[in-house]
Amino acid sequence: MSETSPKLRAELEGIPTYKPGKPAAAGGPVAYKLSSNENPYPPLPGVMESVTAAASSFNRYPDMMCTGLMNELAERFGVPASHVATGTGSVGVAQQLIQATSGPGDEVIYAWRSFEAYPIITQISGATSVKVPLTPGDVHDLDAMAAAITDRTRMIFVCNPNNPTGTVVRRAELERFLDRVPGDVLVVLDEAYREFIRDPEVPDGVEIYRERPNVCVLRTFSKAYGLAGLRVGFAIAQEPVAAALRKTAVPFGVSQLAQDAAIASLRAEDELLGRVGSLVGERSRVVDGLRAQGWTVPETQANFVWLRLGERTVDFAAACEQHGVVVRPFPGEGVRVTIGEVEANDIFLKVAEGFQKEL
Ligand SMILES: Cc1ncc(COP(=O)(O)O)c(C=O)c1O
Repeated sequence: MSETSPKLRAELEGIPTYKPGKPAAAGGPVAYKLSSNENPYPPLPGVMESVTAAASSFNRYPDMMCTGLMNELAERFGVPASHVATGTGSVGVAQQLIQATSGPGDEVIYAWRSFEAYPIITQISGATSVKVPLTPGDVHDLDAMAAAITDRTRMIFVCNPNNPTGTVVRRAELERFLDRVPGDVLVVLDEAYREFIRDPEVPDGVEIYRERPNVCVLRTFSKAYGLAGLRVGFAIAQEPVAAALRKTAVPFGVSQLAQDAAIASLRAEDELLGRVGSLVGERSRVVDGLRAQGWTVPETQANFVWLRLGERTVDFAAACEQHGVVVRPFPGEGVRVTIGEVEANDIFLKVAEGFQKEL
């Protein structure tokens, strides 16, 4: 055997591997997974039926252009179908956006801490990450992000609400920021948690992109619509960007099961958004409960809460796990806890209370 190994791109060295949320322990006592911002509700029967029906022909390739889904999304959002592009989850679409805009020598700006896929997909492309720290209140520092723009900047992510803090940027500050971004820099409004927002001051990216050709809105079926395992997300952007997304898509990436489930979910939107309403109610209960215990919890508009625990992060996550809930620790920084089933949220609140008492 040869001593040499295939030459791999230098950019791959040191890429942090994506850490998926830890699964709930199998076979243990009750165990709830609150580590991946998933939807705790099982698939709706109608959505399940569409998936089972599509399964009978998975010997065939899916519709490569996702025609039915694109048309359905176009109608749902009141945009031309040519402005819609689908992909394998919104993380897949985010990677396509980077591929379409950025390479070695280019810069991609995003807040930090934010969604952990951003540094990975940026580094894979060979572009340079420019991480702009969140404010002390855990919110995007849009002034600092605007100040970080150089002539090498190609793309900027604004994660709204931000993962993992749940915090939002509001209409006036976002518009002010967008006014400062040169027209040849693409701003991606990552709205993976859009449906959980109740603050009327948080703008809908779909309204913003209509007036701004350098804005692309990223959405997903993984969270509010409960299709995380099927991998389907989409972008809404004006034609040149949407067309670039079609060029960078993995051919046949979105399975027919995913396409049909997404269409069925759009048609069952009222019921699904009713579930989102219940989760939002649980979110208020959890946040109020934590604050009553003395915790400082940033205002969250997503399906998770953020506790800035610093050095106590890992101990807190271990305590949660001992009691049957798995949360997402970011060692040295804090834990992100998904709003899940009522019983799971109760356990989390109980652990948080015990932990607070020990301090
Ligand atoms: C901010 C944000 N964007 C995008 C995604 C990707 O979701 P998906 O690829 O399942 O659509 C996530 C998932 O956690 C997220 O938190």
